[in-house]
Amino acid sequence: MKNKKDFTTKRKDEHIDITLNKPVQNVNTTGFERYRFRHNPLPELDFEAVDLSTTFLNKKLKAPFLVSSMTGGSEKAKRINEKLADIAEEKGWAIGVGSMRAAIETEGTIESFQIRKFAPTAAILANLGVVQLNYGFGVDECRRAVDLIEADGLVLHLNSMQEVFQPEGDTNFFGLLKKIESVVKALDVPVGVKEVGMGIDRHSAKRLVEAGVDFIDVAGAGGTSWIQVEKYRNKNPIQYQAADAFRDWGTPTASCLEGIKSSRLTVKVIASGGLSNGVEAAKAIALGADLVGFGRTLLPQAIGDDRIKMIDQFEQIEFELKAAMFGIGQSTIKELRYTQWLEQI
Ligand SMILES: Cc1cc2nc3c(=O)[nH]c(=O)nc-3n(C[C@H](O)[C@H](O)[C@H](O)COP(=O)(O)O)c2cc1C
Repeated sequence: MKNKKDFTTKRKDEHIDITLNKPVQNVNTTGFERYRFRHNPLPELDFEAVDLSTTFLNKKLKAPFLVSSMTGGSEKAKRINEKLADIAEEKGWAIGVGSMRAAIETEGTIESFQIRKFAPTAAILANLGVVQLNYGFGVDECRRAVDLIEADGLVLHLNSMQEVFQPEGDTNFFGLLKKIESVVKALDVPVGVKEVGMGIDRHSAKRLVEAGVDFIDVAGAGGTSWIQVEKYRNKNPIQYQAADAFRDWGTPTASCLEGIKSSRLTVKVIASGGLSNGVEAAKAIALGADLVGFGRTLLPQAIGDDRIKMIDQFEQIEFELKAAMFGIGQSTIKELRYTQWLEQI
């Protein structure tokens, strides 16, 4: 490998290729299949009156959706980010970029994260790995990540199990909560914390709220498993084999939401991890989420060149949420959040 930029580019492209082509689905389910809405035959609503709008990071969204943080750092990643940003702007969704460590460390990759020109009004999230706070990054790098892409907020990701199964992983996760707290205090934009598909349980959520985070994205189990993704990049026979024992690792997305709701934490909650349609999104909101994030499910269309197909996917998810709300007679996201029409099977 010639230099750091080539190495980063290779890793980013491998992540995209593996998530698209290998069996990286967690065998654990999201838990949303344990819930069903009771049908309301008398919605007393005009379907056209169902309103999906909400706010996030002090911006108005047309729908309570987020394109989950995914990529950046290579030419392929740049094109994916630009296409997703363009559609997010048109449809009024929030959008995150992938880990910006590359942008901070290697000048030549910055442009692949700079989506503001494609999404001038969208709520944009910068992204860094929390563990980098133990490897030379601090408040300055966090601030720089936000400034570089004119973001409205920063999300720090917790990915302990990915790092442990990653050939070149950074595995010292000691003392990070205090460092999260110092970043939250220092930045003048909202700062949140997410997982990457293993979930944030109620106890960890409470500790993060005490550290002052503005939002939590549970990124629970049931979708992409980063243990499985790294397995396909790993030549070490022990880690490769061990990944099989972790095929169901993680707290299911619905369980994370149940835990946070029952703890009555006052924090904005994003539901993500294994979501693929608007009915699951409706269930997530009824379980207390403010916003719903989609990751890998958007990738196959985003890698292609058919803009209409991308728009169709966004609109289908929106229609499914709207129809689910109509089906239970709830006309706003706030009503859905407090609905009594969700039942455990
Ligand atoms: C190709 C790809 C790259 C990702 N890179 C990042 C990243 O850099 N930072 C991050 O916080 N999450 C990253 N994620 C994790 C997603 O944001 C999300 O939490 C996870 O994939 C679970 O959601 P899903 O099941 O909808 O894919 C990535 C996901 C994918 C599919």
